[in-house]
Amino acid sequence: MTIPFRYKRLGYAALNVTDIARSTTFYRDLVGLAVSESGVDFTALRCSRDHHNMLLYQATEPGLKRIAFELETAADLVAARRHLESLGVDVSEVDAGERKRLRIGAAFRFRVPGCGVCIEFFTQLMHMALPYVPTLAKIERLGHVVLNVQNFDKVLGFFTEKLGFCISDQVPGFAAFLRCYPNPLHHSLAILTGTDDHLNHVNFMVSDIDDIGRGMNRMKRANVDIVFGPGRHQPSESIFLYFLDPDRMTVEYSFGMETFPEASAREPRLLEPRPEALDLWGSVPTPDFGKVGVIEQDEKVSA
Ligand SMILES: [Fe+2]
Repeated sequence: MTIPFRYKRLGYAALNVTDIARSTTFYRDLVGLAVSESGVDFTALRCSRDHHNMLLYQATEPGLKRIAFELETAADLVAARRHLESLGVDVSEVDAGERKRLRIGAAFRFRVPGCGVCIEFFTQLMHMALPYVPTLAKIERLGHVVLNVQNFDKVLGFFTEKLGFCISDQVPGFAAFLRCYPNPLHHSLAILTGTDDHLNHVNFMVSDIDDIGRGMNRMKRANVDIVFGPGRHQPSESIFLYFLDPDRMTVEYSFGMETFPEASAREPRLLEPRPEALDLWGSVPTPDFGKVGVIEQDEKVSA
């Protein structure tokens, strides 16, 4: 199937949190994001010139509200909508009032069959007058979101065959690391098998390996649980540290990632399913790793 639109990048992740003040403090004072706006129906946090790269919503249970991808142009957004509608996917416009609050241009949302995760496609995200100034860690960007899903093949098939994601690497039947073509990053999204559907983790990429070590000690001092690492992933070759946010959702810092050219990219590798694929350094995730975070399944796709 020809995919008639192009991605620019992973734009932002929206999380549901049970105590928005507590989580805002955590993401600002321990992770190192900057608050660009709070007091509306969400808290907007950023690690770039964008108005937000993460949104926190007050909710009764912690989880993933939606994942938003920026498409290259307005024409791509129109083409993507037409493409999804032709596939019979229920697409809903983000209304003008919400787009204004979100500081985005045009946008629509839909749910992924098989796991129900809400995906937003948008163009334009308000460029802030002042740059993001790293305080605790040199965060480069929101890196990726990882999901556990029961219907692994169905969800993976939808992302690759219908939404145009490319598999960069996979552990057959267990994990697929997906890039939003033609974005060069090894993965902006990954799908893992699960006994239910839930958020596994949200990642922030840092530009200095010292941020991993400093982050580890900062989290330890604040009694934040470290649930995996520091270590080095085989698939993306990145050095990582995973820790828990106040709702016990898993957050990752990572340093380094393979990038892919738009044309003539290497074929995806089939990785052997053994612990070394997860960490070449031999650390093992704790039982709390990647467990908390329901995928919001509300009827209404617009907030
Ligand atoms: Fe990750």
